[in-house]
Amino acid sequence: MRFKNRFRNTVIFITGGAGFIGSAVIRHLLDETDACVVNIDKLTYASNLDSIPQAAGAGERYRFVRADICDGPSLRRLFERYRPQLVMNLAAESHVDRSIDSPGRFIETNVVGTFTLLQEALQYWHGLDPVARARFRFHHISTDEVYGSLGAEGLFTETAPYAPNSPYSASKASSDHLVRAWRETYGLPTLVTNCSNNYGPYHFPEKLIPHMIIKSLAEEPLPVYGDGNNIRDWLYVEDHARALSLVVEHGTPGETYNIGGRSERANLHVVTAICNLLDEMRPSGNGPREKLITFVTDRPGHDRRYAIDPSKIERELGWQPEHDFEAGLAKTVRWYLDNQSWWQAILERGYTANRIGLTGTH
Ligand code: NAD
Ligand code: TYD
Repeated sequence: MRFKNRFRNTVIFITGGAGFIGSAVIRHLLDETDACVVNIDKLTYASNLDSIPQAAGAGERYRFVRADICDGPSLRRLFERYRPQLVMNLAAESHVDRSIDSPGRFIETNVVGTFTLLQEALQYWHGLDPVARARFRFHHISTDEVYGSLGAEGLFTETAPYAPNSPYSASKASSDHLVRAWRETYGLPTLVTNCSNNYGPYHFPEKLIPHMIIKSLAEEPLPVYGDGNNIRDWLYVEDHARALSLVVEHGTPGETYNIGGRSERANLHVVTAICNLLDEMRPSGNGPREKLITFVTDRPGHDRRYAIDPSKIERELGWQPEHDFEAGLAKTVRWYLDNQSWWQAILERGYTANRIGLTGTH
């Protein structure tokens, strides 16, 4: 539903808007609010401007700028030109397995890029008049992986200690600390959200769920790392996009909000559920797809369990996920069946779906 006047006369910078979550936030803002969006993205391998079909009809309400968040002078020109009220930072290197093989680019974008964006936002914020300065927000989007790995019990709350285990989560933890320091030291009105594993439409096929859907359709082995009992807390990406828009609109500066779907599932359960859904929606002549499941060498430093306590955002901002895991997964599998051209184009660009991230294994 479109809420007229929501974010009216508001320019929002979305960095990483051609990625999985950033594009969902832009689709949400264009469809359901009056916001004007400037999508700032470097267009790495993970990006796809086709993930924003609304862009073509959005007119003045949407601009795309190809830029790197590590490039201060370009960011400065964008702040001067578009004069945003809100900045949502979703630009990142986001895949744990890639961070094991090539950590440098994670430090570059996630740490140096966030630092550069903070510096440019701060300089711009200092130049605003008092009313605009009071309204400005810098919202940094982060991950539950900064809190490390849980045992069988317990949930990550906003006060859980940081204990990142992968180069990816360490780079995100560093960026969260920078954001906190820019708030405490310089007074920049920042917000941080830490979310659990997202899934849904337009998800790049290197991540577990789209990876398994595409491999199952090709009837190739489904590589489950380790014993398959690692647990993730799954959040449907459109529920997440709604949560982010609530936080940037109503969140209290200086606060962190954890966002999760209250949907913990073991990886093996997830992969089996995908096989069963595909068997139902697109039966194979070769019988049940579950037999494609193959246990492979574990990821080095593989976190055992993540689980978010989302009660703060539920209580303070009235947010709740609209999809439980079964409903969200069925919608996602249906989307991949109906939008084969979107992911086929990624395969044709050269993405091979081969195993990566084993360089840390001794
Ligand atoms: P993604 O990899 O799908 O997209 C990242 C986008 O950022 C891409 O479009 C890429 O081109 C862009 N980008 C990368 N480096 C850039 C740079 N230097 N300058 C400008 N743009 C750059 O990632 P995602 O899944 O959409 O994740 C978005 C944010 O949410 C990230 O900060 C990630 O850490 C966080 N997060 C994601 C998940 C998840 O399950 N996907 C879970 C928790 C947190
Ligand atoms: P992933 O989607 O990479 O997200 P994250 O590492 O950020 O949680 O992986 C989700 C889980 O699935 C994680 O425990 C690793 C596992 N996994 C597999 O078992 N096989 C795969 O091919 C992939 C990509 C992931």
